[in-house]
Amino acid sequence: MKVAVIGAGTMGSGIAQACALASHDVKLVDLDDAALQRGETTIKNSLERLARKGAIEEEAVGAALDRIQTVSSFDALGDSELVIEAVYEAIDVKREVWSQLGRLTSPEAILATNTSSLSVTEIASFSGRPERFCGLHFFNPVAMMPLVEIVRAMRTDPDVIEAAVAFIEGIGKTGIVCEDKPGFIVNRLLVPYINDAVHALAEGVASAEDIDKAMKLGANMPIGPLALADLVGLDVGLAAGQALLEEFGDPKFRPAPLIKQMVRAGKLGRKSGEGFYRYDEGGSR
Ligand code: NAI
Repeated sequence: MKVAVIGAGTMGSGIAQACALASHDVKLVDLDDAALQRGETTIKNSLERLARKGAIEEEAVGAALDRIQTVSSFDALGDSELVIEAVYEAIDVKREVWSQLGRLTSPEAILATNTSSLSVTEIASFSGRPERFCGLHFFNPVAMMPLVEIVRAMRTDPDVIEAAVAFIEGIGKTGIVCEDKPGFIVNRLLVPYINDAVHALAEGVASAEDIDKAMKLGANMPIGPLALADLVGLDVGLAAGQALLEEFGDPKFRPAPLIKQMVRAGKLGRKSGEGFYRYDEGGSR
C-alpha cells in the first residue's frame, strides 16, 4: 500500500518504520526539516538495533529504508491509500493539518489519526471526510509494542474499520477495535491506576519503591506504577488525566495534587532526570 505518515517525531518515525518493514511504500512528512532528519536517523538506528538482536534480517534494514521517502510538504500525497497523522497533540494543529489533508488526498483513501487523548470524531470532522476516518492508536515504542487500538469514530464506515484491522494485522500488530471514548481502552484504565498509586504515596501508605514492588510481586505487573509514570513522563500523564476528567466530568479522574506539584517543579520523570526516582544521563536509576 502507499502509506503517508504525517509527523516524523517519536510516533511518526516508529509508525513509518513498522509500515516499511511490512513492505508498504511510505512517505514520511514533516514541515520541519530537522525533525525529518531526526526521524530518519531514529529509524535507521532502530532498524540496525533490531537486526543486531536478530529480530529482522540484515537485508531488511536497507530494504525498509529504501521504502521510506521523506517529504516536507503535503503536495505529493494524492496517491496515498492510507494516511496516518502523528503531529503534535493539539487540536488546533490537527485542525490545520486535516483541513489541508482532506483536500489533498484521494476520496478513497483511509484517513487515520494517532491521537491519544483528543476526540477522533472531532478530528475526523476537520478532514471533511469523516466516513473514511478512524483512529489508529499505536503505543510507544512502536517497534516493541504489539497493540494498536483501532478507534471507530461516530461517522466511520464499517469497511474502513475492516480495512484498518487487515492493515494492522498485516504489519504484524494486534488491532483491537474500540469506540471513540476518552482514553480508549488502555489509557482509560492505566491513567487512574497510576493516579491512585500517587495518592497512595502521598498518603504515606508505603514508599515509592515498596508500592512498585508490591504491584510487581503481588499483581504480576512487569513494572510498578510509579516507575511507569516516570517512563511515560509526569507531564504527559497529567495531561491525559486532565483530558479524561474534562471529558467524563467524573472526579475519579482528578489528577493527584502531588503529580501537579511535581510537574510544576520540573520533576517530569526519566526525561528530566527526576520523578519518583532519580536517573543518571543514560536513563538508569
Ligand atoms: P512529537 O512531538 O515527537 O512529533 C510530532 C511531529 O509532528 C514533530 O516532528 C513536528 O515537527 C510534526 N509536526 C507538527 N506540526 C506539523 C504539521 N503541521 N505538519 C507536519 N508535521 C508537523 O510527538 P509524538 O510523541 O510523536 O506524538 C504524535 C501524536 O501521537 C500525538 O497525537 C500523540 O498524542 C500521539 N501518541 C503519542 C505517544 C507517545 O508516547 N509519544 C503514544 C501514542 C500516541
